Amino acid sequence: MDRLLLLLLLILVAPLLTAAGGLNAKEQLIHLRFYWHDILSGPNPTAATIARSPVTNASATLFGLVNVIDDPLTLGPDLSSRQIGRAQGIYASADQNVVGLLMAMNFVFVDGEYNGSTLAVMGHNQVFSKVREMPIVGGTMQFRLARGYVQAMTYSFQPETGDAVVEYNCYVLRGSDY
Ligand SMILES: *[C@@H]1O[C@H](CO)[C@@H](O)[C@H](O)[C@H]1NC(C)=O
Ligand SMILES: *[C@@H]1O[C@H](CO)[C@@H](O)[C@H](O)[C@H]1NC(C)=O
Repeated sequence: MDRLLLLLLLILVAPLLTAAGGLNAKEQLIHLRFYWHDILSGPNPTAATIARSPVTNASATLFGLVNVIDDPLTLGPDLSSRQIGRAQGIYASADQNVVGLLMAMNFVFVDGEYNGSTLAVMGHNQVFSKVREMPIVGGTMQFRLARGYVQAMTYSFQPETGDAVVEYNCYVLRGSDY
């Protein structure tokens, strides 16, 4: 084969081989920690209830409830601490026996090292368990092709209002050539 053609083929195929290889030596594990503020009460709520099931409205697990969120993500547990992003998406009460949410949200970074990048989280969140693990299913910009998981732990919860602050630890794998 013509040497030039061979070289061209190698250049084209090599990145595909690396991408298809699964865990890549160049992959990097990033740990991010922040606090997620879900505010239902007061003049500036960050969560809005958009659906409740008329049939199961009174159920203890609020089965059928759907909230849309635009929740601040801060470096410290205080709402006034530095905000690095927003958690935008929905959660739905999807368990009839315990309070178990389907979470579908994007972490949209608006400050700091990851400004402009996003991480997509989709998983099961049994909110009264101590540590809830959910998959990171992808990301954009600095988190292109990312995968990983988050561990969520309730920091504070007001049962009267439903307001909650949750500590999120994210473990993100991304390629070095994102
Ligand atoms: C469901 O419960 C909420 C809160 O208690 C109440 O405001 C709402 O009217 C109820 N909705 C239905 C359809 O019963
Ligand atoms: C974050 O990115 C936005 C959009 O690119 C930019 O307008 C903003 O100044 C950046 N913020 C910081 C703190 O870098």
